Amino acid sequence: MDRLKVSIGGLELKNPVMTASGTFGYGTEYIDFIDLSRLGGIFVKGTTLEPRDGNNYSRMAETASGMLNAVGLQNKGVTYFVQHIYPEIKQYDTNIIVNVSGSSVDDYVKCSERLVDLERIPAIELNISCPNVKEGGMAFGTSCDSAAKVVKAVRKIYPKTLIVKLSPNVTNIGEIARAVEAEGADSVSLVNTFLGMAIDAEKRSPKLSTITGGLSGPCIKPIALRMVWEVYHAVGIPIIGMGGICNWQDAIEFILAGATAIQVGTYNFIDPAASAKIVDGILDYLDRHHILSIDDLIGNLNID
Ligand SMILES: Cc1cc2nc3c(=O)[nH]c(=O)nc-3n(C[C@H](O)[C@H](O)[C@H](O)COP(=O)(O)O)c2cc1C
Repeated sequence: MDRLKVSIGGLELKNPVMTASGTFGYGTEYIDFIDLSRLGGIFVKGTTLEPRDGNNYSRMAETASGMLNAVGLQNKGVTYFVQHIYPEIKQYDTNIIVNVSGSSVDDYVKCSERLVDLERIPAIELNISCPNVKEGGMAFGTSCDSAAKVVKAVRKIYPKTLIVKLSPNVTNIGEIARAVEAEGADSVSLVNTFLGMAIDAEKRSPKLSTITGGLSGPCIKPIALRMVWEVYHAVGIPIIGMGGICNWQDAIEFILAGATAIQVGTYNFIDPAASAKIVDGILDYLDRHHILSIDDLIGNLNID
């Protein structure tokens, strides 16, 4: 299985397959369906300094080949995570990475500080790309200056692996990736959801209480793949790719576009064991193509 090992900064992954924040709870919810030790890592629910109720219902809408969500970072806050959730999940034989969100730079710093000393949390993922909150969220990830400010401030207090999750709702994602790399990010993960909208024609009303929400699932895959490929050519740090990944073929495509590792998101709702099947599929692909290590595939696209 060493053939599947990859590293992201100081984070060692037994394989490149992980689950995306907000789509896999804390892992605990999935233990009846999948052996968590088969995964490279689990990105837990978006965590904020203070507890948040999230947005009003309705906050989900199904679309062609995807879904819109406007959950709005519902969570019990970092103190609850440290005291009640961490003790429960710390024994899992996989990497647990906390997805950190905030409404101000100070929020991100204070929340991240609370996670530094947790021995079994080797990394955090800064969510500067949530489209579903009124303040902060995506606003931090859509300009180079504000993205750089958050990363610079968190980098000062967070010595472990720092992953920055980028918004696809920008004109030039490579520029934002370069800005966070310059401030010391160890890795970038992309993409978060695309800003979208759904309307009920009979009722003549938006389907989401927030009117707009985040689009995810297979419908976003080609755009996400293009963005990973652009970022691969813009930065030197490892990339974690996601957006509509459902099977091992999708995962291999992201790796060929330049991702060192991938995350499975919305598809967990369809098949909770999908990520373990993707690990098997990647291994089989390496065998069939006589490839010794997954490293040899990263960004290794044949272009004439
Ligand atoms: C219901 C739901 C909740 C999500 N919550 C978060 C979150 O808390 N933090 C975050 O960074 N991304 C969140 N995301 C975005 C996913 O982690 C992922 O970036 C996105 O859905 C694209 O991948 P996918 O198409 O495989 O789902 C959420 C997505 C969904 C569908």
